[in-house]
Amino acid sequence: TTVEHAADDYELGGHTDFMRKEMAEQPEAIARALRGRLDERFATAHLGGLGLDPMALRAVKRVKFLGCGSAYYAGQMGAALVEELARIPADAEPASEFRYRNPVVDPDALYVAVSQSGETIDTLAAVQELRRKGGRVIGAVNVVGSAIARECGSGVFLHAGPEVSVASTKALTNMTVSFAMLALLLGRVRDLSAAAGARIVTGLRALPGQVERVLADDAEIARIAKRYAHARHMFFLGRVSGWPVAREGAQKLKEISYIHAEAYQAAELKHGPLALVDADMPSVVIVPADDLVAKNIGTIEQVKARGGPVIAITNADLPDGLADEVIRVPRGEPELDPILLTIPLQLLAYHTASVLGRDIDKPRNLAKSVTVE
Ligand code: AGP
Repeated sequence: TTVEHAADDYELGGHTDFMRKEMAEQPEAIARALRGRLDERFATAHLGGLGLDPMALRAVKRVKFLGCGSAYYAGQMGAALVEELARIPADAEPASEFRYRNPVVDPDALYVAVSQSGETIDTLAAVQELRRKGGRVIGAVNVVGSAIARECGSGVFLHAGPEVSVASTKALTNMTVSFAMLALLLGRVRDLSAAAGARIVTGLRALPGQVERVLADDAEIARIAKRYAHARHMFFLGRVSGWPVAREGAQKLKEISYIHAEAYQAAELKHGPLALVDADMPSVVIVPADDLVAKNIGTIEQVKARGGPVIAITNADLPDGLADEVIRVPRGEPELDPILLTIPLQLLAYHTASVLGRDIDKPRNLAKSVTVE
């Protein structure tokens, strides 16, 4: 064990744990995912590993992302990107549901199996089911040579580097970054203009620096985490592009702090869960600078009116004093907002777990990859 510990200390490179190290590595991980794949001249992306020429890309009638846990939430972000940039129907489903429900496999669809480890049994089974039924499936996988990467045979590698912490951070970020490139590519063989494509390319190039700025807010997020770490329950609220961000935020908090967190589409609050809001139930509200800002301000006011504390995660200009706490992220291209808005939620979960003295890299009851049924 002495030798193992020495190796761990070395691999941690001065960080207290792997989650912290892996969060800090995100700017370089994103840069790695983008390297050699962005084309300024034609305002598109090159993803050679897909093995799909422009004709095949144009023949794709819909896209479906399949993954488990955070990989499924990343897929939900990917589906939104594909619908926005390529204007073809896209959605995400937990691979663990898909594999058991005798799905209708669409021969004109592109299925994307999403997995950091490439070993998740449910995602692997979904891929095998798809292949048996003649579906076209590509991988979005971090670990080269893993079972899912091999079974898919083509796809996009995430290039996040090794991820040790059970809570996925940099791999999840690189999933969404990769889906933005996939969506850009699918868009540019359709009606996405060169100008719009160039805007996304510029937005992607700016991401590493912007993530660096969010990470620099560490001390402030640690202060907020400490203030709310006593909570037994928390809401995470978002609408449209903020909704998968809210789900991922709740997941991270549950996973490593053991605080009960529930994500809701903000507009669904009034249909039941608002009854739970009181002074002991903080809400984290995701407020992207999109045309729904006024709606999200309304949500914050409703929660505040019931005495609920509010932590806003935003790149919009919110009225002073609206929320109890405001965590700001830089403003980039709107389609890429979910990537930046997710970063503070990692830090919030991390610092909450740390205040509570949890075993951050190895939360109870969980495994890094779920390889058995
Ligand atoms: C993420 O923080 C979780 N540990 C978990 O939801 C994870 O994303 C899921 O198990 C999928 O793992 P995979 O990406 O290796 O397939």
